[in-house]
Amino acid sequence: MSPQTTRQAFITGLRDAHAMERKSLKWLERQAERTGSYRQFQDRMMAHARETREQIQRIDRCLSELDQRRSIMKDLTMSMFGAASGLADDMFLGAAVARSAFEHYEVAAYRSLIVLANNCGCGDAAARLNKSLEEEKRMAEWIDDNVEEITRTRFASDERPHEDDRTRPYHHAA
Ligand SMILES: [Fe+2]
Repeated sequence: MSPQTTRQAFITGLRDAHAMERKSLKWLERQAERTGSYRQFQDRMMAHARETREQIQRIDRCLSELDQRRSIMKDLTMSMFGAASGLADDMFLGAAVARSAFEHYEVAAYRSLIVLANNCGCGDAAARLNKSLEEEKRMAEWIDDNVEEITRTRFASDERPHEDDRTRPYHHAA
């Protein structure tokens, strides 16, 4: 692949990653609102939302170094994760399982972008993106380590429902 083509692929990948992170941020904020019955899960969603805001800024910086304007960014449709986030709207467990899929997707996206950044000679961008990769790996690992506990807590809270859970769809789904 010629350097110009690699550069174009890097720019396209950065735009896609920007849309991916914006989608992730919206979804994290929604999940944080709806998982109040499991405080540890909610806290981790909120912490990752803060990381995601910084990740968006890192991508912005990479794009501005490449002279790309934010206004020309396309929106990523991400139909697969659109469906997963629909599940997360309705089910507490769906939120955890879909979040796991999304974080692993982000890990792969950053790994690919870092290769492109290095191939383009953009070492600073690669280092910046590597920070985001490490955050995504930690988040994916946290979900992997906690999905069983989240499930147990979900069913334990069914025995003693919180007042504000009673009107939520997932309370009636189990
Ligand atoms: Fe993430």
